[in-house]
Amino acid sequence: MRVGILGIGAIGSVIAHCLELHHDVYYFNRSTKSKIKVKKNNDVLIRKIELSLVDKVPTLDWLIICLKEYHYSDAHDTLQSLITTDTKVAVIRNGINLEEPILRYTDSKNIVECIIDCPTQVLNDGMYHQLYDPIIKVSNGKLSSEFRGLFRLDRLGIVEVEDYHTESWKKLIESSAIGSILCLTGETCRIFENSELVNLYGLIIDEAILVAKADNANISLEFKSELVQKLIAYPPDKGSSMLTDRIRGSLIEVNAKNGIISQVAKKHNIRTELNDTLSLLLRCINMR
Ligand SMILES: NC(=O)c1ccc[n+]([C@@H]2O[C@H](COP(=O)([O-])OP(=O)(O)OC[C@H]3O[C@@H](n4cnc5c(N)ncnc54)[C@H](OP(=O)(O)O)[C@@H]3O)[C@@H](O)[C@H]2O)c1
Repeated sequence: MRVGILGIGAIGSVIAHCLELHHDVYYFNRSTKSKIKVKKNNDVLIRKIELSLVDKVPTLDWLIICLKEYHYSDAHDTLQSLITTDTKVAVIRNGINLEEPILRYTDSKNIVECIIDCPTQVLNDGMYHQLYDPIIKVSNGKLSSEFRGLFRLDRLGIVEVEDYHTESWKKLIESSAIGSILCLTGETCRIFENSELVNLYGLIIDEAILVAKADNANISLEFKSELVQKLIAYPPDKGSSMLTDRIRGSLIEVNAKNGIISQVAKKHNIRTELNDTLSLLLRCINMR
């Protein structure tokens, strides 16, 4: 298989090390890169790579996109060149409706949306520190099975789920509620010792659940209390990707988090004052 990875950052680097060795792999990244370095436990995996030029590669069988939500608009020309009618596309990023920005390049039947659980941080020497093996959730079906076939399953797990839409909403509801509170306060989960913040967390979740249900996600009655119980049990030093982005001075993926909740709500005429306010404040941080 000819497999392209677009975006050799944290997730792209981890994914590169999880591919079966017999593929022809093509790497695409905005900045120059000659090595992929990933650390997991005491193992350090280093691979020399050569970035490919988008107009000099043969037709790809698969393109795995590992960009952040706000990278997509600048990547238009690259996506247009790399995605042909014979290319299947996997989109790995946070948020929901991941196929939406790709539909201008190919048909929905060629796209696999992926929810990834794989906390990975960049260290000072450009090495990525991956906390554990990635778990990717995908919708069940033939294309997802083909996607699974690309990987070394001793390094990465692929879980095919019945109701991907609901799974993606559940992840979004939890990560946007925790992430926005931690990011805006600059604190880790120790802040939830304050019951007023647990209460606020619950209100943000209530609002997001209304939108998710209007968007046909199948959210159970117990979901909110499950999330609150989970929150209370988190270790005090647990952070979130949004908090990390703020600390590192990176852009926060607002539109893939609270922003998309407000956006979907508008289509259903649902008021989302909390998520609108959180998005506004997070966008202000992005203007630093
Ligand atoms: N990291 C995690 O722990 C984690 C966990 C779960 C989910 N996710 C999600 O996975 C997605 C990817 O995150 P990430 O952490 O891997 O982001 P990242 O480390 O910022 O990597 C993004 C990569 O894309 C490259 N890029 C940006 N624009 C490009 C363009 N136009 N053409 C080619 N390459 C381009 C960047 O290049 P430069 O080298 O120039 O910056 C960077 O290497 C996000 O939605 C994130 O929320 C991340």
